[in-house]
Amino acid sequence: MRSVTKDNITEIFMGYVSADADPRVREVMGSLVRHLHDFARETNLTHEEWRAGIAFLEGCAAIETEERHEFVLASDVLGLSSLVDMLHSSPEATSSSVLGPFHVSGAPPLAYGGDMKRHYGGPVLLAEGTIRDTNGDPIPGATLDIWQTAPNGLYASQDQDQDTYSFHGLMTVGQDGRYAFTTVKPVEYTVPSDGPVGDILRACGRHPWRPSHLHFIVEAPGFKPLVTEIFPDDDPYLDEDTVFGVRSDLVMTYVEKPAADFPDGMALSGTLTEPFLHVDFDVVLGRQA
Ligand code: BEZ
Ligand code: FE
Repeated sequence: MRSVTKDNITEIFMGYVSADADPRVREVMGSLVRHLHDFARETNLTHEEWRAGIAFLEGCAAIETEERHEFVLASDVLGLSSLVDMLHSSPEATSSSVLGPFHVSGAPPLAYGGDMKRHYGGPVLLAEGTIRDTNGDPIPGATLDIWQTAPNGLYASQDQDQDTYSFHGLMTVGQDGRYAFTTVKPVEYTVPSDGPVGDILRACGRHPWRPSHLHFIVEAPGFKPLVTEIFPDDDPYLDEDTVFGVRSDLVMTYVEKPAADFPDGMALSGTLTEPFLHVDFDVVLGRQA
């Protein structure tokens, strides 16, 4: 019988993992436990700190619901969601970024040129572009699932005053791969900070802000689905996104244009009296392996 010590416990753990275990399970669990043990040894973790960690996990579980995914939020603010994303992104495709907890399935169809702003106040943003493959050719029939907050910084699912699908839309592009729609310029907002993740942010002296962004899921048969978002280049939180979602190819200039330059053939054509913002964002999808 061997005595378990603080120095050999990691090796003993590995000995407990059956030789018949799935090799990937062995690799992932082995690495996870090695890092956990090293973390405890390196920081000389106290009982009190370890209990605080367990209480954090219990606190996340206690408020985990369909609308509130505290574990995902924890992964987001620790940078783990973004890191896993970046480990598997295709270099020749548009960068992916965090999904976040506020995407809802079943968004209503939004026709080419359609409007999501409706009666909401704030600057009009015209977003348009082409969905392309890595050769630069348009991808006919690609779908663009779009979502963002209202000008109050809340997603529809967080806000009793919005319709279920306000600021959510699903556009299918034609043969030319083009999409275009109008919305209100997104605002920066805070991720939920009234739970255990908020406690961690405060303990680290971190803020809960995300730079303003417009979310997209772009899909087409034969291509890898892309979860992404775009950011304006003048946002004050661009360099300190609390969920680490900013990638340089997703930072765009929103160009201000006079109302007279607003294109024809869109839902808001002929109605604008104020200048509008314009962003051109082409999306490149990588082929499915
Ligand atoms: C979001 O952008 O919707 C989001 C992403 C991560 C955590 C919370 C919100
Ligand atoms: Fe968001």
